This record gives sequence, C-alpha cells and structure tokens, in this order.
Amino acid sequence: MNSLRVNCLKSLRTQRGLALPLPQPLSWASASTTTIPLRWLSTTPVPRLRPNERDSLARPVPEPTAVERQDLATSPEVPSRVGAKKILPEFNLDGRVVLVSGGARGLGLTQAEGLLEAGATVYALDRIDHPDPEFEKISGRAVTELGTSLHYRRVDVTDVAGLGKTVAEISAKHGRLDGLIAAAGINKEGNALEYTAADFDWIMQVNVIGVFSTAQAAAREMVKYGNGGSIVLIASMSATIANKLLTVYKGLICAAYNSSKAAVVQLARNLASEWGQHGIRVNSISPGYIVTPMTRHDFKASPEREQFLSEGNMLGRLSLPEEYRGAGVFLVSNASSFMTGSDLLIDGGHHAW
Ligand SMILES: NC(=O)c1ccc[n+]([C@@H]2O[C@H](COP(=O)([O-])OP(=O)(O)OC[C@H]3O[C@@H](n4cnc5c(N)ncnc54)[C@H](O)[C@@H]3O)[C@@H](O)[C@H]2O)c1
Repeated sequence: MNSLRVNCLKSLRTQRGLALPLPQPLSWASASTTTIPLRWLSTTPVPRLRPNERDSLARPVPEPTAVERQDLATSPEVPSRVGAKKILPEFNLDGRVVLVSGGARGLGLTQAEGLLEAGATVYALDRIDHPDPEFEKISGRAVTELGTSLHYRRVDVTDVAGLGKTVAEISAKHGRLDGLIAAAGINKEGNALEYTAADFDWIMQVNVIGVFSTAQAAAREMVKYGNGGSIVLIASMSATIANKLLTVYKGLICAAYNSSKAAVVQLARNLASEWGQHGIRVNSISPGYIVTPMTRHDFKASPEREQFLSEGNMLGRLSLPEEYRGAGVFLVSNASSFMTGSDLLIDGGHHAW
C-alpha cells in the first residue's frame, strides 16, 4: 500500500475520529502505480469532529476492516507520477498531428511554433501563396532542433471541398489527426450605419463558416481514425464586449467582426456537445488586443490608437502572439483532458474593468 492510499485512508479515518496506524512501511522506490480509492472519496460519509473528539486522533486504532481493504483493492487505478522523468508529460505532443489554419503568419504561426516545441507535427493551412519569411526559419528549426516538422498547405477556409480534401490527405498520410487550432480570421472595420451586407457576409463566411468548415473537416478525420482529438477555435475578447469608443478614430468599430467572434465562442460550445461522444474536445481562446500583421498596419496609421487600446487593460500594454502559445498547447494536449465547451479568456484584465 503506497503513501497516497495510506494518506487517503488516514484522512478518512481520522475525520471519523479514528487515528490510523500506518499499515505498512512505505517503499517509494518500488512503487509503480498509485491508487486513490475513488469510491471512498466520493461516497463515504464524513461526519464532523466534535471538539472532545479531537484528542482521539492520537489514540491507536484498529487496522482497516476487511471491507475497507476490499475497497482499496478494487478501486480504479490512478497512475502514479512517482519516478516520472519528464515534468508535466501531459503537455507532450510527440507523435501528434495538428493543423493550424491561418498558420502562415501572426498568431497562427506562433501557435504552430508552440505546438512544434511540444513535439507535434504541424500543418499550417492558409490562403496566401507564400507564408511569412519567419515560417521558413521555424520549419528549419522544427527539423534541426525539435525533431519534428512544419508543413504548408495553401487552402482557403471558404473552399469547403478543397479544405476537406487537404485535411483528408494529411490525415491519410499519417494515419491520424489529433488537433486543430483554427486561427484564420479577417476584420473590416466600419460604422454600422454604412456597413454593407456584402462586407458583413464576407466576415461571417471566413470567421464563422470558415471556422466551422475547418473544424468539421478535422472532426470527420478524427472520427474516422478513432483517436479522438482536440479542436481550438480562436475567438476574441471582442466576442463578449463591445470595444470602447472614445472617438470614432480611436476605438475599434467592428460590429460584424465582434458578432462573428461571439458566434465562434458559441460554435465551440455546440461542437463540443456534439463531438464529446467521439472523444473530441472543442474549446475557444479569446485573446485581447495582439500586435500582429492584422493590427500592426493599423497602428502605423494611427499610433494614438495603440496607446488608447493599451490603456484598456490592467497591464497597460498590448499583448504579443507568444503570450498565447501556452494556452494553445494546453488546449490541444492532454493537459486539458477534462476541458471542453469552454472559452479561455486571455486579455490582460480588459474584461474585468
Ligand atoms: N490581432 C488581434 O488583436 C486579435 C485579437 C483577438 C483575436 N484575434 C484573432 O486571431 C486570429 C489570428 O489573427 P492575426 O492577428 O494573427 O491576423 P493575421 O491577419 O496576421 O493572420 C490571419 C491569417 O489568417 C489567414 N486567413 C484569412 N482568411 C483566410 C481564409 N479565407 N482562408 C485561409 N486563411 C485565411 C490570413 O492569410 C493570415 O495568414 C484571427 O482569428 C483573429 O480574429 C486577433
């Protein structure tokens, strides 16, 4: 009986007013598995100690009963971390195949690099002919430093057939598909009195239907190969706030974009509810303002806007794409194995004000 089991037993029996003599000397070196008696933790009634019972903790008490021992022997096994050589191995993505839409640059490319560092083979899907020059450096690093690989497939997420074909080819090549980060997205600002239906429609086509189609293509392959998987949709803090406007030139005026991101958060919840039965988890990340090609161009034209947006959060600055890598790896990996249908809001406290 190892220490976790004993501690569990001890705490249970001491809470009943009984002190537990440790049944066996512990041998950490020989412990290969640790068992927590889950049935005990969840179902055993634990009466409160009355003050005059406290000194009973010091008194010797009997060994566990036959029934208690039986419980320990038949409880579900929980693997021990004792002797584990890697720290937090649940973040490890060795051997996993993960797609990143919008992975040619910006947040998507940074997510791709995080996944590579965790061990995944990564495919960036994007509509542009040639990815950012940084892409080449990262794909070189993947091979020489990380022992894995980064690939590029040119595909527009509004081309449902092309998307399905590309995703199916990638999965067939590896005999599996484990993850997706759907980061492809666009924005077009404009005040709502003049915004055209055509522009609104285009935002929805890419940010909502494109994200849906990418998730659908990935989930179909995940179901086919039967390993489950994890899908992460990049939403935005703007899914749940209207960006503050001081003057029309300083704030962000984008009812269409913000609505599309709200749809992405809701999409994650609904896909999670449908695909949980296949072992597929679906979550979203809602970033705050990030300095990427999407926003850099904008800040160049209007530096006072950068200042204004920075003051909107508790850290007084804009974020960098690197600040979302950990979240991406967390959600794609087993580190988040019980998390689905959730939104991870990472916004420097913007919402909390
Ligand atoms: N930059 C921010 O402040 C910010 C904040 C919150 C959320 N986001 C979201 O993060 C994601 C990445 O944004 P970013 O700032 O890196 O933008 P970005 O413009 O730098 O990158 C977006 C990528 O998506 C690709 N893309 C666009 N439409 C596509 C299509 N139809 N098919 C395939 N690829 C397409 C682009 O080519 C580009 O490579 C987006 O979904 C964006 O809405 C950005």
